[in-house]
Amino acid sequence: MNERTRRGRLIVFEGTDGTGKSTQLKLLHRGLAQQGLPVVSTREPTDGAFGRQIRNLYVNRHQYSREEELELFLADRREHVRDFLQPNLDLGKIILCDRYYFSTAAYQGALGLDPEEILRRNAFAPEPDLVLLFQAPLWLSIERITNGRGDTLNRFEQREFLEKVAAIFAAIDRPCIRRIDASGPMEEVRRQVLAAVAPLLSLHPRILSSLNEPCLP
Ligand code: TYD
Repeated sequence: MNERTRRGRLIVFEGTDGTGKSTQLKLLHRGLAQQGLPVVSTREPTDGAFGRQIRNLYVNRHQYSREEELELFLADRREHVRDFLQPNLDLGKIILCDRYYFSTAAYQGALGLDPEEILRRNAFAPEPDLVLLFQAPLWLSIERITNGRGDTLNRFEQREFLEKVAAIFAAIDRPCIRRIDASGPMEEVRRQVLAAVAPLLSLHPRILSSLNEPCLP
């Protein structure tokens, strides 16, 4: 389906781990749903068979070569596009997607593959209407992962690796990308998210002012 005939909207949340994008996705989902808008949320890697295989990479990092790892993310995305993203776009839904092919460019690119070539290999996937790219200093993201989530860094989250990931994210330039400064308090970040989303969804001023009221996570 081309952009002119697309009925729904695809809004992607991207960024390094620990930037708070998943929290913001949930807040936006809740706000839009409360206003009666047809919103659905999803994530990559998915919970399908390939997504589960990918999550095994966290525990056994030497299981696959980087090319095989890339193939797994692409296979997961093909299934996601076929079974969820395209059908929901056809139904006119507003899709909020936690990670998409920019993560593949940044993370598998950080393993040494060419980010632009990775983006080209994702030509089968519908282009997002809007990409919210969450950016925060790396020390802050790592603190949020280790203190906030009480986690240790997984295979994708080692500092040097994340530095490369963040550098690739910073260098990707596409008209659909809006950069979100994720270093401030949650409410401030939420306001930036709303400001980016409002024009795309042509939100009625009454809906926008309700969404703008502070809300708890
Ligand atoms: P994450 O959002 O952290 O999922 P969860 O917290 O549910 O485990 O994503 C998992 C990791 O997968 C993340 O560190 C980035 C990585 N990833 C890639 O390397 N390539 C990709 O194409 C995608 C979508 C994610």
